[in-house]
Amino acid sequence: MDTRNLIIVALDCDTRATAQRIVDQLGDECRFYKVGLELLTVAGPDFVEHLVAQGKEVFLDLKLFEIPNSVAGAVRAAGSLGVSMVTVHGMGGLGIMAAAVDAARAFPGLRILALTVVTSMTDEDLTDIGIAGSTEEQVLRLARLAGKAGCHGLIASPRDVAALRNALGPHPLIVTPGVTLPGDSPAEHARPGTPRAAVAAGASHLVVGRTVTRAADPAAAFRLVRSSLVQ
Ligand code: C5P
Repeated sequence: MDTRNLIIVALDCDTRATAQRIVDQLGDECRFYKVGLELLTVAGPDFVEHLVAQGKEVFLDLKLFEIPNSVAGAVRAAGSLGVSMVTVHGMGGLGIMAAAVDAARAFPGLRILALTVVTSMTDEDLTDIGIAGSTEEQVLRLARLAGKAGCHGLIASPRDVAALRNALGPHPLIVTPGVTLPGDSPAEHARPGTPRAAVAAGASHLVVGRTVTRAADPAAAFRLVRSSLVQ
């Protein structure tokens, strides 16, 4: 297994120059980047196209939650940039997810991932927005709905991966943010886990951000994440 294919580095940067510096430092080590709303807004779609032109895969983390027509338009725009993954909010319901999946059909390499419950949210946060039950129950409910809508996979916290694999079987992608290396500070992740535990539980991809991008030596930190997967 080439572990490079399953680690996605989140470029949560406030300037294009910072993001480019990290990409340069990681070089061939890293093949897959996540671009979120911050970097997309400061650097523009041109930076995404630039990554794709360099042979990188891009997960464009748009976290779409809009009327279906607008979701479809955003997915088409993302597909035209050549990205591999786009996120849509499962809480938006079946119509929004199905619109995203439908729009993605024009782009054979494009996968639609449903966001279930953001890893920082707790049961209490769900209660606050009127959702009864635990985060685990909500994750499973939205995962099943995402499957019904035809989504190719899910975003899920390390602690939810095993239950999702169990419930959904081997096919859906499960992309797992909120991973920290043993000894790292869990920052604001309410449900963190190690990369190795997430993969063992059934994650198909890991999203790693600050553990790599804020390290004094990002390439060394990336290698540490890789080696932690096979030890
Ligand atoms: O914490 P880290 O820097 O590794 O975060 C990387 C990515 O994981 C972020 O871009 C964010 O989308 C996701 N994340 C999350 N929930 C959190 C923290 C981060 O989904 N609580």
